[in-house]
Amino acid sequence: MQEIIEKLEARRAEARAGGGARRTAAQHARGKLTARERVEIFLDEGSFEEFDMFVEHRSTDFGMEKSKIPGDGVVTGWGTVNGRVVYVFAKDFTVFGGSLSESHARKITKIQDMALQNRAPIIGLFDAGGARIQEGVNALGGYGEVFQRNVLASGVIPQISVIMGPCAGGDVYSPAMTDFIFMVRDTSYMFVTGPDVVKTVTNETVTAEELGGASVHTTRSSIADKAFDNDVETLLQMRRLIDFLPSSNTSAIPEIPCLDDAERIDISLDTLIPANPNQPYDMKELIHKIADDGDFFEIQEAHAKNIIVGFARMGGRTIGIVANQPLVLAGVIDSDAARKAARFVRFCDCFNIPIVTLVDVPGFLPGTAQEYGGLIKHGAKLLFAFAEATVPKITLITRKGYGGAYVVMSSKHIRGDLNYAWPSAEIAVMGSRGAAEIIYRSELGDKDLIASRVKDYEDRFANPFVAAERGFLDEIITPHSTRKRIARALDMLRNKELKNPWKKHDNIPL
Ligand code: HXC
Repeated sequence: MQEIIEKLEARRAEARAGGGARRTAAQHARGKLTARERVEIFLDEGSFEEFDMFVEHRSTDFGMEKSKIPGDGVVTGWGTVNGRVVYVFAKDFTVFGGSLSESHARKITKIQDMALQNRAPIIGLFDAGGARIQEGVNALGGYGEVFQRNVLASGVIPQISVIMGPCAGGDVYSPAMTDFIFMVRDTSYMFVTGPDVVKTVTNETVTAEELGGASVHTTRSSIADKAFDNDVETLLQMRRLIDFLPSSNTSAIPEIPCLDDAERIDISLDTLIPANPNQPYDMKELIHKIADDGDFFEIQEAHAKNIIVGFARMGGRTIGIVANQPLVLAGVIDSDAARKAARFVRFCDCFNIPIVTLVDVPGFLPGTAQEYGGLIKHGAKLLFAFAEATVPKITLITRKGYGGAYVVMSSKHIRGDLNYAWPSAEIAVMGSRGAAEIIYRSELGDKDLIASRVKDYEDRFANPFVAAERGFLDEIITPHSTRKRIARALDMLRNKELKNPWKKHDNIPL
């Protein structure tokens, strides 16, 4: 027996060595960890159970039969994050550049099937050169099998992709179909075709970083949800994210013991809104002051900064926060902001995460750039997402709630469960000056008269009371009591049941 065990250990050691000492050293020299080192950091200590470490490719083309490395370029298995089960696959760049062969794909699809069947999140760590070039269509077919499973698992279990090195060709489409993509700054990049192909086809000269680095994908393209400085930080942040997420669309949202009093009062919020209605303030201050321990995991913080989305907790339970940011473009909604928030709202709704919406919005951004860019359809995405959501929805208007943007931002009219406003709220079709100048266009020549018309409009609508009189607001609350009121509302809505009519699926304006 001892001899057999020693043989097993020798084979395990061979598999764990991946592409060998030289390639491992090269990986480290680039500031990257190996696949197994990454998995160790991500999972609870000692919890990783590896599968298929002896799997090899079956290719015989281009002399590949002479070149086999156990594991075939991907490390797969399951483990726990703070005690909760997660499935993981990590591309091993030291083995054939992490490229995907038929066997490599089978290892991933096995894990995908297990994650879906056993209803637990799956996380993929990417660091790879795309399809195994020597395998041709077998590799392409493998990708197709992975993609199909991504789609079937979408909305059932959380799927997270972390880009920790090159990610090109077939490797980019699987992450693109998962819920979140995270990147490591300076060492990761993702694109469909690399700089060489770009040069050949379009004659553009770009570096890998300029084409698909974290700096591009967290800002311009918004493909990535967040970037971190190095492998270790990224993996620790992934643990933090997992703690916010339920295991599946049928499991309860995580509830962690909370020492932060849910009824905590914060007097400083009474002075958050500046006296001048056109002066900005930082909505993140409100978020940090109402969240448990000020803990907020922001998503897409570097893109469309005029809207803020992310996870927090109240009373120990996860919530999704969507908030206009008056500090950026006065918190106006443009196409990017609408798409960003719509996707987040849909994620929360898929996974039964209550949504808290903080509103200070002057409207949609006017202009040809926005209209030509499809603002109508992008704005409709956010409207659609909020309107179809059946999770508990709590809305607070802190200041402006103007026009269509008021309706869109989880208003009572699209099934907001509890709609609150601070006394500083102004809810109207548009700002008082714009409104008076349209209604009293013929009086524009008379400055004093127009000023008094503006004042009339302001007196009538620059307050929350008209909306409260109609029942469009359930209550006008004091800023200092915000955390307590929202926490109580979340408790009250805990058993909410609301179903949309049966349909195969909806047709959100994509
Ligand atoms: C097989 C590959 C490979 C691949 C890299 N390697 N990519 N082997 N198939 N796709 C191997 C290399 O031969 C090398 O092996 C090792 O991985 C490291 O690669 P290097 O080139 O030395 O590393 P580096 O300089 O860091 O460059 C990394 C890279 C580059 C940018 C990823 O290797 C590259 O451009 N690879 C090809 C990318 C690509 O075009 N893939 C196909 C995409 S098409 P040794 O033995 O020397 O260590 C695709 C279609 C799918 O994916 C579509 C599905 C819808």
